Amino acid sequence: MNFRNNIPSTASVAYSLNDGRLSAPAAERNAGPIVDLVMKIAPEKGQALEIASGTGQHIVQLAAARPKMTWQPSEVDQLRIASINIWSKDKNLVNLRAPVFLDATEVGWSSKYADQNFILLINLIHLISESEARTIIKEISIALAPGGRSIIYGPFQRDGKLTSIGDKSFHQSLKEADPEIGYKNDAWMISQLERAKLQLVKVEQMPTNNLAFIFEKPLI
Ligand SMILES: C[S@@+](CC[C@H](N)C(=O)[O-])C[C@H]1O[C@@H](n2cnc3c(N)ncnc32)[C@H](O)[C@@H]1O
Repeated sequence: MNFRNNIPSTASVAYSLNDGRLSAPAAERNAGPIVDLVMKIAPEKGQALEIASGTGQHIVQLAAARPKMTWQPSEVDQLRIASINIWSKDKNLVNLRAPVFLDATEVGWSSKYADQNFILLINLIHLISESEARTIIKEISIALAPGGRSIIYGPFQRDGKLTSIGDKSFHQSLKEADPEIGYKNDAWMISQLERAKLQLVKVEQMPTNNLAFIFEKPLI
């Protein structure tokens, strides 16, 4: 999968369902709480972009749950783009666009995805460097329409600390694979949102010790 090719395989496990679809156990497990959160936060209608859609398991559920919103999946990995295509065809949702290749760490991608009313990013920030994460946040800020909302979800440090044994060992394995990557701190995330002129709405505690940063682009 990974664009950074030195990420441990445990960081993104997905199994083939033999019809081109991939199934990620983690995506399956966290889908319920993520869909519930998005239903509370995302507007009823408009344009939604998902960055790093993975297998496609989340976006098909979101598109079904928010039918008046148009959902755009995106990925860097061709096998995952193929998987999203097949999950999408299976569900036959008119409000779900075909997946596109999008490297979210590339400066300037926002110019092709302007005026988004909602942007979702799940489980990527710990797999990239601080400078790449900063680029993503800046690009999200430009891509959002005024008043548009976004959620960045994943594992993070709290107050500079890793708060479970599982998080400590996962963060350690990421650092060993690539010293530039690993869990970002919650305060660092908030400072990057402020720097990108985004307004924090809430940091929500999610199951299995994940956090969801919910934020919006001010109207003026
Ligand atoms: C841990 S998986 C999470 C996938 C999905 N969001 C989920 O929660 O199931 C990380 C995903 O990020 C994608 N990815 C890696 N580098 C990326 C980049 N630079 N831009 C966009 N996506 C990227 C990978 O291909 C992979 O599908």
